[in-house]
Amino acid sequence: MSSAWTPTSTRSQGSLRLLCETYGDMSAKMTAPAIRSRKGGTKIAVITAYDAPSARIADRAGADIILVGDSLGNAVLGYDDTLSVTVDVMVRHTAAVTRTKPNALVVGDMPWLSYHLSTADSVRNAARFIVEGGAGAVKLEGGRKRLPMVEAILAAEIPVMGHLGLTPQSVHAMGGFKVQARLAEAACELVEDAHALAEAGVFAIVLEGIPDIVAREVTASIPVPTIGIGAGPDCDGQVLVFHDVLGLSAGTPPKFVRKYADLGDEASVAVARFFEDVRSGAFPSDAETYHMPEADAQEFLAERRV
Ligand code: KIV
Repeated sequence: MSSAWTPTSTRSQGSLRLLCETYGDMSAKMTAPAIRSRKGGTKIAVITAYDAPSARIADRAGADIILVGDSLGNAVLGYDDTLSVTVDVMVRHTAAVTRTKPNALVVGDMPWLSYHLSTADSVRNAARFIVEGGAGAVKLEGGRKRLPMVEAILAAEIPVMGHLGLTPQSVHAMGGFKVQARLAEAACELVEDAHALAEAGVFAIVLEGIPDIVAREVTASIPVPTIGIGAGPDCDGQVLVFHDVLGLSAGTPPKFVRKYADLGDEASVAVARFFEDVRSGAFPSDAETYHMPEADAQEFLAERRV
């Protein structure tokens, strides 16, 4: 918990105390090995964040991992998919998150084509998330196909999180955002991919958009934590997109999303109230206005009158 944060009300102090009592000491900086050691233990709580305000909110709430996901493309930048997001953009947003000095482990999501061309290129791009972005780890999508890149990044001492199942960067290859590993053969392939990533040394694997039975089998058969999103309740942790959790996303969310607030609607009401006050003249009040010392005000007006 950042010491700079001062709760503004008794109620928030109480809620914060409750959070600390529930989740223990949240003041220690989370690391990839610490996440790795949580296999089978207390469930790992993960959320995306893309900027300083969302990172502060996530960290105060007790996130174990803040994922600067390339879902930034859909959630914030208005694209229909994640494919237009570049390393430059991801690194800039990762740095915005880490400048808030969260206790959560910050994982930077490597965008499409940043780890597909060569191992050297992949390590160079991963290193930008660490050096320029201040992240503690990177995430990349894919299994055995990406193993040489995963191994090269790990060999450069950068912790890697895997991502299997519905991998959004493969949207065209998958023929849309479709649940994966629905049939036995594909499910066995996914389990093999998970084993290969775990053996390579990833510290955790995101399982997205797969049947619960497949996630359960993967979780039971690998020694590193699985983090589910649309993968049922048996993973070692769960992740959701920040804007989906808070009701800030456009359109109908997928069925695995649980919305915990309707901040989009609340925000529109608040901004509409501001506009109403502007139009009625109720904003700004005298207390919201700067004044000159009386003598200077008189002198100024006298100067203007000559
Ligand atoms: O980009 C992202 O936010 C993700 C998570 C949804 C797992 O990859």
